[in-house]
Amino acid sequence: MKALEGIKILDFTHVQSGPTCTQMLAWFGADVIKVERPGVGDATRKQLVDIEEADSLYFTMLNHNKRSLTLNTKNETGKEVLERLVKACDVLVENFAPGALDRMGFSWQKVQELNPRMIMASVKGFGPGPYEDCKVYENVAQCAGGAASTTGFRDGPPLVTGAQIGDSGTGLHLCLGIVTALFQREKTGRGQRILAPMQDGVLNLCRVKLRDQQRLERGPLQEYSQFGEGIPFGEATPRAGNDSGGGQPGGVLKCKGWEEDPNAYTYFITQAAVWPQICDVIGKPEWKEHEDLAEPKERLKRLDTVFDAIEAWTMTKTKFEVMEICNPLNIPVGPILSMKELAEEPSLRASGTVVEVDHPKRGKYLTVGCPIKMSDSPVEVVRSPLLGEHTNEILKQVLGYEDGQITDMHESGVI
Ligand code: COA
Repeated sequence: MKALEGIKILDFTHVQSGPTCTQMLAWFGADVIKVERPGVGDATRKQLVDIEEADSLYFTMLNHNKRSLTLNTKNETGKEVLERLVKACDVLVENFAPGALDRMGFSWQKVQELNPRMIMASVKGFGPGPYEDCKVYENVAQCAGGAASTTGFRDGPPLVTGAQIGDSGTGLHLCLGIVTALFQREKTGRGQRILAPMQDGVLNLCRVKLRDQQRLERGPLQEYSQFGEGIPFGEATPRAGNDSGGGQPGGVLKCKGWEEDPNAYTYFITQAAVWPQICDVIGKPEWKEHEDLAEPKERLKRLDTVFDAIEAWTMTKTKFEVMEICNPLNIPVGPILSMKELAEEPSLRASGTVVEVDHPKRGKYLTVGCPIKMSDSPVEVVRSPLLGEHTNEILKQVLGYEDGQITDMHESGVI
């Protein structure tokens, strides 16, 4: 038994944002029917290809546990099949460019007429407003949602982050909207329309930066290192490098081997409660009573001095030794882990967060499993479907088509 067993998802998603959402629903136990254009499929199947003839890792890593149905939804017979799918499913998820579903003839109004219990969930780049008709990809969302203006170093350009907060982040927001709407439908019997704009999703994740924007109107942001360096603030929340986003100052510090290894660094947080332990561990016990350093407010003016001294100590240790020494003292630190280290980490393999999957065309590959662990709804990661792999099965089992009808549709290129 899985949490969403019995729920059918009509999955019209492509690229990353929508597929992140429907993959999560599939992991929670929903039957996800991915509808793809015959002969073409999700564009990512053929993007960043590393093995000829095999679906790309981009596709496989975002489409586990789904079934693939090919269907030309612009053809009359294809539209009939789609109508039957709308009637048979609980949720329609899509992330086409604005207006594409309407042009296909499946507006929200039409979908409601066909199936009043249907939940129709969309990712778009922007919500209602001047940019609502724009096509949007990850980095556009990061820029338009406030992440880029607050990421990077003060003296450098805005920076996008490697975490896919625009695509995968918005997909997760949409997923939450869908399960909430399913819960509400239990009481009302009605479906509803859900919109998760990427700009809104990114801004939601940048909530603390809008917090700082308002604090800035009342004076300088004292926990930003720029304050201690005596550099005046402008009108908007600045880029803060690796400063901690919370009230406890933190920074990225070099560790032993940093000259050769680009990831020989640690994050180190000078949490006020453990200041005495920090002083002892870095060999500065006198700083516990020092008039300029003993109090957190005073330290904010001298963070460079503090972090220089801590770094002089971390540079004598590997990032893992720093962790081993600091953890028992309750000093919050974290090694900068590379993708290679994460891929090889045994505990992540054991917990099912990094999973090895076998694929008929590409052989074994690694993927990220479900990051949410539920005690009563276990997840087994199943390889992504080949294009149209389940077309016949779905047409027969879910929609009750006969073999002859299916053959006709194959021959006329509808499926
Ligand atoms: N049968 C027939 N036609 C199909 C089809 C099918 N099974 N599936 C899709 N199509 C058609 C669509 O109807 C659309 O046709 P139209 O433009 O004539 O109406 C067309 O394929 C292409 O869809 P579109 O979404 O415009 O793809 P794109 O590659 O041009 O744009 C995005 C890609 C991601 C930029 C765009 O979809 C978008 O902005 N999506 C919303 C935001 C988003 O999710 N972005 C992040 C992606 S990770």
